[in-house]
Amino acid sequence: MKFFLDTANIAEIRELSATGLVDGITTNPSLAAKTGRPMTEIIAEICEAVEGPVSAEVLATDTEGMLREAEVLAAIADNVVIKLPLTFDGLKACRKLADKGIKVNVTLCFSAVQALLAAKAGATFVSPFVGRLDDIGHDGMALISDIVEIYRNYPQYTTEVLVASARHPYHVLEAARLGAHVVTLPPATLRQLVKHPLTDSGIAQFLADAEKAGLSIPPRG
Ligand code: G3P
Repeated sequence: MKFFLDTANIAEIRELSATGLVDGITTNPSLAAKTGRPMTEIIAEICEAVEGPVSAEVLATDTEGMLREAEVLAAIADNVVIKLPLTFDGLKACRKLADKGIKVNVTLCFSAVQALLAAKAGATFVSPFVGRLDDIGHDGMALISDIVEIYRNYPQYTTEVLVASARHPYHVLEAARLGAHVVTLPPATLRQLVKHPLTDSGIAQFLADAEKAGLSIPPRG
């Protein structure tokens, strides 16, 4: 399962990429706005810092405008993935970009039939927003289950299910159980995944016992 980081914060991206656990980056206009910097500059910096796919979202809402912006974003680096909204305009743009070999992440997906359309339009990734569905009293992970099942029925679709708007470790656990291809996580959630109180107390106990017994591992040589 791939882990993407859902942030445009370059310091966080550099720090967490050093763990070797980050396979790519997703951004959106809200995350880019938080940096207070020009979008093309941020995307260029992120693309230099990571080897994996970096999703950069268009701002236009019509197909022509999306394609114009996509051209600018795709020219930044080879690992840019164009993020398009799940509308007819977005799907039309997706098909055109996919036919040119440009990778697309179709975003703001909230239903399984929308995800089916994204696959038919040739998306490389579809991003169902699980947390935002949970926020309105729906079951975000049930949507992932439906999409994974539908895509498995049609192996000709190669679109990867990218679980987005994941907010806590349980979303990650369920996404992995269901066989989703990717989960994108805010930096804080990725940090949460490694934490367990028994790991911390276990280390403390081992070190205390080693110290009491005077154990050490001398350098080689
Ligand atoms: O990048 C899209 C998505 O992950 C947004 O998450 O927490 O704003 O719903 P959130």
